[in-house]
Amino acid sequence: MKKSALISSLVAAAIATAAVASAAEIKTVSLIEDPVDPSALAVCAQLSSAPKWWHGKVAYQIYPRSFKDSNGDGIGDLRGITSKLDHLKALGIDIIWLSPIYASPMVDNGYDISDYRAINPEFGTMKDFDEMLSEMKKRGMHLIMDLVVNHCSSEHAAFKKALADPEGPEAKYFYFRKGKNGLPPDNLRSYFGGSVWEKVPGHENYYYLHYFAKQQPDLNWYNPDLRERVYDMVNFWLDKGVDGFRIDAIMNVAKDTAFPGLPPDAVGDGMAEAKVMTAMHAAEVPGILKEFRDRCIKPHDALTVGEAFGLNDEILPEIYGSDGIFSSVFDFTVREIFENAKGYYDYPMGSVKMYRDANFKGQLDAQKTGFASPITENHDEPRAVSLYLPPKLQNAQGARALAVAFMFMRGLPFIYEGQEIGMTNTDFKSKDEFRDLVAAEEYTKALDHGLSPQEALKTVALQSRDNARTPMLWDDTMNAGFTTGTPWIRMHQDFKTLNVKAQEQDPTSVLNCYRDLIKLRKDPRFAEIMIYGLFIPMQSSDDEVLAYKRKLSAGEITVISNLSLHDTQFDLKGKILYQTGKAEFKDGKLLLGSGSAVVLKP
Ligand code: GLC
Ligand code: CA
Repeated sequence: MKKSALISSLVAAAIATAAVASAAEIKTVSLIEDPVDPSALAVCAQLSSAPKWWHGKVAYQIYPRSFKDSNGDGIGDLRGITSKLDHLKALGIDIIWLSPIYASPMVDNGYDISDYRAINPEFGTMKDFDEMLSEMKKRGMHLIMDLVVNHCSSEHAAFKKALADPEGPEAKYFYFRKGKNGLPPDNLRSYFGGSVWEKVPGHENYYYLHYFAKQQPDLNWYNPDLRERVYDMVNFWLDKGVDGFRIDAIMNVAKDTAFPGLPPDAVGDGMAEAKVMTAMHAAEVPGILKEFRDRCIKPHDALTVGEAFGLNDEILPEIYGSDGIFSSVFDFTVREIFENAKGYYDYPMGSVKMYRDANFKGQLDAQKTGFASPITENHDEPRAVSLYLPPKLQNAQGARALAVAFMFMRGLPFIYEGQEIGMTNTDFKSKDEFRDLVAAEEYTKALDHGLSPQEALKTVALQSRDNARTPMLWDDTMNAGFTTGTPWIRMHQDFKTLNVKAQEQDPTSVLNCYRDLIKLRKDPRFAEIMIYGLFIPMQSSDDEVLAYKRKLSAGEITVISNLSLHDTQFDLKGKILYQTGKAEFKDGKLLLGSGSAVVLKP
């Protein structure tokens, strides 16, 4: 064979191989619909016969410190929020959850409250609050506040009195106990590390209880005076026109007040996690909160969403069934896989499969119970795009495909600030860039475990809550338009390209994708299916394809998100209602590219 002929045949062979390879890259994926659990049908029917104002709505969480600064001090504030309400309105948001804005020493960024009826001056004034609320109402939006009543701040006036006199009346609002043989009353470990007990200065054998930081003393819900004070405060906000509450760490209110402790766990410090005790007493929570619901929530027709970890199947109906104590609870099924006693360095790697399987389980449990709140991110978690998606899809394309998977789940979906533009984790370069008290704790834990400083930084950077707390990215000017001053925490590295303004102009941006998805979710033709339709997982032969149906006698939709790195095809018919990326019907098959997603109707 002549040289040129040889080359051309080699080229031809190479082309042929490439063709075979690209054909082979299209993976045929089968999808099989799960059978329907009859108890889910009953719950769906019950819900649709008793519609609530929050059914059919979409919620959004604002982390006030990081949303928008109006006065150049580098800290987000209420006037900043008011100035950005149109962004939320255009996105399609109906309900806003504000993380705490009350007076606070900010040890845990406002989850340590020193005065429940005052606005933290760094966020503004009560007048700013009233103005913000009225601007929300003008736009037809609802506000839910953060209700942090498992604990308050050690700077709260009542706690200061209690600390000065552990046997006085104020001490009964808290848990003050004597130590045993020079040791704390029990061996529980706080959520933020170390003992849940702190010595009372000047009263050496007394300790007080704090499940979180030592500046967050636990409130005693078994004391009727404490409960009265909480009801008064809650009604104060509801009477102002607030529409409800996200209720912080609430399962922790049930305790064994004899404080017997627990057998030590595997960590090896002789302690056991407080959350284990909380889970053991979960069944008591509905009894403790019933009065609160009946005297505050019901008369105002308010919405409550519980931050309720450690639930078990038996108590779900009492927690958020038709006569449950909360209107809804966040679905933390996927989050609960991460949390473990050892710490960040021992957390598993996130994956699409983990996200999918946990959400399927959460959705199935929820529809046998009531109206849960699906989330993909919040202020306590890293960015979902970075946590669950393969590196090649940790970009706008992956964010859109994940958005499709998320936005049609059953319940009241909460979008977290920045999620709507596909924010990824922040590139923290040194341990001094973290602001969260947990980050410092976890860094030390990782070093103690034998990790090098670089490895410790890497684990903390991957899991830190600060990933969700870096400022919202509005435009490509200095500090992304968040502040004209120095931001309280570092900015995300990509703000020049990753920001609201840039995405507004691009019809295929993550932001416009979220807008379109919310519009579709609320489209009157499908609204009923979206609200009351069953959630039916579709078992996929590929672990990185997430597919489900929403179904009602009135009709159904199918959602398929290909979060794998290969193109896929499915033996499916239907009409495309929405698509992102590469999706088409060809020869009776649906072709779906890597990082692409569709919503179909039959
Ligand atoms: C909740 C909050 C978290 C806070 C903790 C203590 O989990 O979401 O941010 O640190 O409670 O209040
Ligand atoms: Ca400010």
